[in-house]
Amino acid sequence: MAFGRGATDDGFRRRVYTRRVPSERPPRSTAATSEATAEIRFRPLEDGDLRRMHGWLSDPAVVEWWEGRDVSWPAVVQRYGSGRTDAIEHWIALHEGEPIGWLQCYAASSEAQGEAYHWRAHLDLAETGAIDYLVAREAKRGRGLGSSMLRAFVRDVAFPRHPEWRFVAAGPFEANVPSCRALEKAGFERRATLDDEAGPCVLMVASRADDPNAVQS
Ligand SMILES: CC(C)(COP(=O)(O)OP(=O)(O)OC[C@H]1O[C@@H](n2cnc3c(N)ncnc32)[C@H](O)[C@@H]1OP(=O)(O)O)[C@@H](O)C(=O)NCCC(=O)NCCS
Repeated sequence: MAFGRGATDDGFRRRVYTRRVPSERPPRSTAATSEATAEIRFRPLEDGDLRRMHGWLSDPAVVEWWEGRDVSWPAVVQRYGSGRTDAIEHWIALHEGEPIGWLQCYAASSEAQGEAYHWRAHLDLAETGAIDYLVAREAKRGRGLGSSMLRAFVRDVAFPRHPEWRFVAAGPFEANVPSCRALEKAGFERRATLDDEAGPCVLMVASRADDPNAVQS
């Protein structure tokens, strides 16, 4: 099944179709150990973050995996600024008070034809939240921050704010090894592999831990 991943016609969340081989596994350091157990907090993205977001989204290592189509300043203001009209939540992740990443989350059922729509054979979309995310600086990646961020976000933001969600899901490209691995480390389980026009994607799912009726894969 081939499908596009954009939630809207303008390519939002659509990934670029150029691909590079993932870089070599990053070296470990003692700093990585402490970052893996880092306490991550979250606050809503504000207009004062837009310059930062513009820089983060322009990082080729980020462009590679999704945005890519238009990360111009006007597009960033339109998609992430306070004037936006969609219901997508945008969050800034903080580590020791410093912004280290961004996440967005939205109801999977809100997509008429985007990425999450294609999860419907595997999940009840009405009970599912979808996320996208990044760790901001290349030097900070591969050190445990991403998995800590994802775990904390699901636990502290996504499930508490959305009691209707039994699942939180993400659909990284299978070739995005760091993303798939970070999700696994954060407690997500592989639910399915789906064909995208740009390559296979993995449906990764976190279940609400305290819901005895949660369906496990
Ligand atoms: C995806 C992302 C958020 C993950 O955050 P992170 O801080 O790098 O993640 P972590 O360090 O917690 O975990 C990454 C894991 O992948 C491993 N990894 C990284 N590159 C790898 C590679 N090329 N091959 C194999 N494993 C690799 C890391 O070693 C680590 O696993 P380990 O702890 O078992 O050794 C971050 O890399 C990022 O922002 N990437 C760019 C944007 C992006 O791809 N966003 C997601 C789109 S779906």
